[in-house]
Amino acid sequence: MEIVSTIKEVRENVKKWKKEGLSIGLVPTMGYLHEGHASLIVRAAQENDKVIVSDFVNPTQFAPNEDLESYPRNLERDAQVCQQSGADLIFHPSPEEMYYPDAVTFVNMTGPSDELCGKSRPIHFRGVCTVVSKLFNITTPDRAYFGQKDAQQLAVIKRMVRDLNFDIEIVGCPIIRENDGLAKSSRNTYLNPAERQAALIIHKALDDGKKLILDGEKNSAAVIAKISEIISAEPLARIDYVEIVSFPDIKVIDTIKGDILAAAAVYIGNTRLIDNFIIERQCT
Ligand code: PAF
Repeated sequence: MEIVSTIKEVRENVKKWKKEGLSIGLVPTMGYLHEGHASLIVRAAQENDKVIVSDFVNPTQFAPNEDLESYPRNLERDAQVCQQSGADLIFHPSPEEMYYPDAVTFVNMTGPSDELCGKSRPIHFRGVCTVVSKLFNITTPDRAYFGQKDAQQLAVIKRMVRDLNFDIEIVGCPIIRENDGLAKSSRNTYLNPAERQAALIIHKALDDGKKLILDGEKNSAAVIAKISEIISAEPLARIDYVEIVSFPDIKVIDTIKGDILAAAAVYIGNTRLIDNFIIERQCT
């Protein structure tokens, strides 16, 4: 496995592989890799001849008040995870390599990026769509892998790929959880032991909401109220949003019907965590 930091080096590898007729899978990440990322790399290695992992904390998807500076970074550890999971190349660029200082072109979306995290983090998806488009252009993969923990991001990327005619298959992969249910996230590392315990309320509340829906509840407000009530009972938790939307077009719905995404963003202390569930049932 090789680690490179320039676009030129990635392109040299890609050119060589394409000449040999090899397929390429891309796993875009911001590093500090955990088992969730490892599962994406393993899947990419099963389905492609070569796997590129991008490891880049993308500044354009963070607002000035967010955690860009403190976001955890550890390339050495990431390299071990990539090696063990079957990656062939890590692309670890600097911000200067990825962005011209006078760049004026960005990828903007409306619709699926407007609700949920798009509401609380207004510039977030512009940064995600821009960096992912750039990574697609740099690596020209056959397939790219994204986790369902960021379900809205997955929907946004799929829509962008369709709208901009990228010839890339987007593969969504299941949420990987700790044994006690907490969704794996690089940001879990910010939690102190009391917060780590408190964070369990998010999955528990969502699970109870899911049960309500599976038992026949069709009123979004009732399910949102139940989930919110459970989370609010935890003193260390502060709700950013709890919402139910249609999936994958991410429109707020009053009545639960068809494929839906129930998503929550919750501050545990100062750490903002997200989690969700999807229910797929055509036309019920
Ligand atoms: O999901 C992430 O880690 C990031 O949003 C992504 C897709 C790597 C873009 O920076």
